[in-house]
Amino acid sequence: MANTKVLVIGGAGYIGSHVVKALLESGFSVTVYDNMSSGQTCNLFADAAFIKGDILDVEKLNTVMAEGFDAVVHLAAKKAVGESMENPQLYAANNLNGSVNIFNAMVNNGIKNIVFSSSAAVFGAPQYVPVDEKHPLNPMSFYGYTKMQIEQVMHWFARLKDFHFIALRYFNAVGYAADGSITGREKNPQNLLPIIMEVATGKRNKLHVFGNDYDTPDGTCVRDYVHVTDLATAHVAAVQKLLKEPQSYCLNLGTNKGTSVLEIIKATERVIGKKLPYDFAPRRAGDPAVIVATNEMAKKVLNWHPQYTDIDKIIQTTWNLETKDK
Ligand code: UD1
Repeated sequence: MANTKVLVIGGAGYIGSHVVKALLESGFSVTVYDNMSSGQTCNLFADAAFIKGDILDVEKLNTVMAEGFDAVVHLAAKKAVGESMENPQLYAANNLNGSVNIFNAMVNNGIKNIVFSSSAAVFGAPQYVPVDEKHPLNPMSFYGYTKMQIEQVMHWFARLKDFHFIALRYFNAVGYAADGSITGREKNPQNLLPIIMEVATGKRNKLHVFGNDYDTPDGTCVRDYVHVTDLATAHVAAVQKLLKEPQSYCLNLGTNKGTSVLEIIKATERVIGKKLPYDFAPRRAGDPAVIVATNEMAKKVLNWHPQYTDIDKIIQTTWNLETKDK
């Protein structure tokens, strides 16, 4: 794979850095392209080339792609659901225009394969669970809409050009590389587990649990938490699949298992060995009660089998980061 060149756009971010690590471990030659708006220097690997650049910079994208790559992995996106409802212009420009710029630069430079970071947010509130790939797409946020729209542009490019894609729809990405090699924390986190870590380390006073009157066993929302190393492995398998067979897919990446917010709190308390202060707050707008994936198709197409199935172990890999230098 050393002569197989992959361009990882957004490779300095939380998921991107785990993908770069997995690609390097599988012997690919990796170049990271990132504008460092949420990417971090500590997430870069010495073995991967790094180019600072923006996906809105068409000229730079073309110059970089002219070097020639066997595949692109595209993870560069704005991803805060709430922000996307307040500032859709930002999401339209960055996620929609930025992705189209990438696809055009690929076509201009004869690059045929792309693995794209999509999201469970394309489904909206599920009509049934577990959610399979045939489930209707009905995003409840502008963020989810951008992901759905980009998938559709890729379907058209695949019909019209020598262009092949695998869109990976992440459910709830959590955890960190177990070897501690990736240390970048997200700035200003909006997601449950990073917020819990801030409560556990005293950076926040308490956690607000958004709603305890949902139609779920304990009244709190149920999500499918998938370890970021498992997500990274799926990207490697997707690149390998595209290089072998030029066919396009949209695949759900989850664990087939739901965990409630209260169960996450209890699991964290077991891992860190102390109680977490929390209260019940009103429901957050746009939160479905339950969203859980079936990953049968990813298993079949990519031979992908998530290794992390125990929520305590998943949380432990995040907590390790907090206790590392103490
Ligand atoms: C959402 C998107 C997901 C996207 C991710 C990125 C949907 C269905 N999912 O996940 O596709 O990739 O954002 O940001 O749109 N919670 C609390 N208190 C908090 C924070 C969260 O109770 O302070 C609860 C939420 O209500 C939710 C669960 O924790 O039930 C998980 O929330 P979060 O981590 O924000 O992820 P999602 O909203 O599920």
